[in-house]
Amino acid sequence: MKISLGCKPLAIPSPVWVIGSYGSCAQPNIMVASWGSICCTTPACVAVSLKVSRATYANIVEHQAFTVSVPSRDFLFETDFIGNVSGVSVNKFSATGLTAVRSNVVDAPYVQEFPLIMECSLLHMLEIGSHTQFIGQVMDVKAEEEVLGENGLPSAEKISPLIGSAGERAYYSIGKWLGQAQLVNNWLAENLFTCERLADGADIDFGNLEFGNLPLVTPDCFKARKS
Ligand SMILES: Cc1cc2nc3c(=O)[nH]c(=O)nc-3n(C[C@H](O)[C@H](O)[C@H](O)COP(=O)(O)O)c2cc1C
Repeated sequence: MKISLGCKPLAIPSPVWVIGSYGSCAQPNIMVASWGSICCTTPACVAVSLKVSRATYANIVEHQAFTVSVPSRDFLFETDFIGNVSGVSVNKFSATGLTAVRSNVVDAPYVQEFPLIMECSLLHMLEIGSHTQFIGQVMDVKAEEEVLGENGLPSAEKISPLIGSAGERAYYSIGKWLGQAQLVNNWLAENLFTCERLADGADIDFGNLEFGNLPLVTPDCFKARKS
């Protein structure tokens, strides 16, 4: 039975991102943001939502830029610290021993020790309520070579990012690899004709299966997959 928990933004899991920005005297600062996500493919954009009280808020407005550094689980304690003290009172790079690197594409610093970086130019700001959403256009992505998978793109397993659980206010690490996205296409291509309810000799282009284009799929196919 589902229990109603009321009006809460409990999207679980959430990212644990470290947002880099410069203060007015070019002082590099970092904060943690979990209210964030990919928000557009073209142009490539990510969004983070910040309270106006964050030093990072004014920094981004002034410099029209921010970076997203993705910490690996090895940096749990540094990350938690970065998310609990303000750059107004503490130089978080000095305090943690992390290294600020000036981006070569936007006016913001990133964290050298973290394996994946997105360097963003401020595209839009949307005042929502308690938080303002900052939409950043990704001008470059930088990744440590050792976190790249066989296809040359970052592998979640190799990055081993921290993951947030909003309601619990807790950190997790990632679980095991389950399969490639669109794995259902390959599975259907291999097993479609074993599903009892499918019409014999159906003319299906297996190279072009789309979710909206699968009239022969029934719940039995999915049950068969699990058994
Ligand atoms: C796990 C975690 C997630 C957080 N997510 C956000 C967030 O999405 N937006 C926000 O405004 N503050 C968030 N915070 C709080 C800020 O990181 C924190 O207030 C920080 O001290 C602000 O630093 P600054 O004043 O130097 O910008 C989060 C803190 C933690 C620990």
